[in-house]
Amino acid sequence: MTEIRPIQWSDGKLWLLDQTRLPMERITLEIDSCQKAVDAIREMRVRGAPAIGVTAAYAMVLAAQEIEADDASTFLHQLRRTGTIVSAARPTAVNLQWAVQRMLSSAADECGVAQLRGKLLEEARRIQDEDEAINRHMGDLGKDLIPDGGSVLTHCNTGALATSGFGTALGVIRASWEAGNRFQVYNTETRPFLQGARLTSWEFQQLGIPATLIVDSAAGMMMAQGKITCVITGADRIAANGDTANKIGTYSLAVLARENSIPFYVAAPISTIDLELPSGEEIQIEERSAEEVTHFSGNATAPDGVPAINPAFDVTPNRYISAIISEGGVSRPPYLETLLLATRSGRSA
Ligand code: MRU
Repeated sequence: MTEIRPIQWSDGKLWLLDQTRLPMERITLEIDSCQKAVDAIREMRVRGAPAIGVTAAYAMVLAAQEIEADDASTFLHQLRRTGTIVSAARPTAVNLQWAVQRMLSSAADECGVAQLRGKLLEEARRIQDEDEAINRHMGDLGKDLIPDGGSVLTHCNTGALATSGFGTALGVIRASWEAGNRFQVYNTETRPFLQGARLTSWEFQQLGIPATLIVDSAAGMMMAQGKITCVITGADRIAANGDTANKIGTYSLAVLARENSIPFYVAAPISTIDLELPSGEEIQIEERSAEEVTHFSGNATAPDGVPAINPAFDVTPNRYISAIISEGGVSRPPYLETLLLATRSGRSA
């Protein structure tokens, strides 16, 4: 099997696998300006919290190539201004701001403009490489949560496409499968953007892991019938107390899991944990265009002029989450204490 790598840097440009076209077409976009990278994030041609973080890092490299300044302080001033624009491309996933901050910190040293450009590229490559390594490590730490003989439900797309490679929640499922465990996988279609139907189903096929697609609203019945023994999702932002923002519909799955006494797990790198936010109430939820709800592929699926709202994420309160897997370990409640420990041990590892 060839590993899926949605983000590549070569010839001084960024190359993104266009996730709006999968699985029908495999098209690679040539991104040669910071603005094009920001547009690709906004239009969800690249999506998933870690993947947009990595793309933001390369957006800063592209910005650095575009800035016409001979002295380091003017260069850094302009780079910081661009960083604000890149960070705001999508509001919910903290990985975007985290990556931009990390890029700016790497360029804070006193040195010449050419050297700064080199440092920025090195840092973006490091962020990308670390992300895949972290995912593999999380897979190893979390694989025993998906036991042999059971069945797992996942939501949205959290695989290689949503990251630099391997994936978070999907990576944990993959690691368990590769360790020899055999279980039934179900994945939701994930209305309205269909990340589950289009991307997760495709990834499981590429991996050779049998997975059955269900409509989002079938999850409750499947759980009540005993067909699901655990749920695992990714995250876009986890507050200090463990409240977790993830793809719209995650909250409903977590409540249904609790009602049916099924464990509900979240897998996400430490870069998704925002210790500055005390709870999920402070997480900004992205509102996307109503057209994503009323249309599919340019065709209307609702009457002309019908009002629709399209919150892209929801927040699952920490009480519904059985464990959070990060590279810092498998954290369990009380998250206020255990997430702090995980971030400390993960960052020093
Ligand atoms: O709107 P998207 O497709 O970017 O949302 C993605 C998700 O909600 C994922 O579950 C999350 O980013 C984790 S990805 C490893």
